[in-house]
Amino acid sequence: MQKIKPDEELKIIAHRGFNIDYPENTLLAYKAALNASVDMLEIDVHLTKDQELVVIHDDKIDRTSNGSGYVKDYTLDELKSYDFGSWKDSTFEGTHIMTFGEVVKLIQAYDITLLIEIKKPSQYPNIEEILLRELKEYRLYPERVIIQSFDEKSMQKIAEITQEYELGLLLSKKKYLMRMPNFNKIAKYCQYVNPNYQLVNRKFVERAYLHGLQVLPYTVNDIDEIRKLIDLGVDGIITDGPNYYFDLD
Ligand code: G3P
Ligand code: CA
Repeated sequence: MQKIKPDEELKIIAHRGFNIDYPENTLLAYKAALNASVDMLEIDVHLTKDQELVVIHDDKIDRTSNGSGYVKDYTLDELKSYDFGSWKDSTFEGTHIMTFGEVVKLIQAYDITLLIEIKKPSQYPNIEEILLRELKEYRLYPERVIIQSFDEKSMQKIAEITQEYELGLLLSKKKYLMRMPNFNKIAKYCQYVNPNYQLVNRKFVERAYLHGLQVLPYTVNDIDEIRKLIDLGVDGIITDGPNYYFDLD
């Protein structure tokens, strides 16, 4: 397979880290993505019982750990006692859940943007405020941060609190397969519109650009689909295996 040599402007985004080969949203997956020289690292955040931001995709720990139950019902200390690696492969045994702060420290030395997805914000009433507070505490430059969510209200809430960070609205295939999003409305509070890649066609990209929105489709793990999206003029590609498809340096 001939890998794609991306243009400077195309952002290559590691989805949950380099998660084809490593357990998603863990130090191993993130380090592999950083070593692959991607432009952005996509992470998912939830809140623990003691209001700590942790990186994990699901609101339950069942799929990606040796435990079970909801993240919100555990303290950080309790979550740290579980193994988040061996579900993927026994060689990853001993991998722990990371806090958002630990991720920020990890990426500090790299020239990379964090694409932070707030997961299920309706389950965590103050998650936006907590994330914004931590971003300030860890002094991450706003230009190195994009916050995204499927939840319009959550993005609108952040836009009302601060305009310091760029925001993206995620669009699911289920909700938008039969209709175009209201780009005009989205552009009032977001700078990005990040659709399931199967929603992207020329009309979608044209309309998004007309409203000044950048387009970062997710999650593309097929080189022909990636080529099609690049031809359509998207701004980046969110993928599970960045250096499977791209010739990165
Ligand atoms: O970054 C977009 C993508 O991560 C959204 O879907 O379910 O993988 O979080 P999901
Ligand atoms: Ca995500």
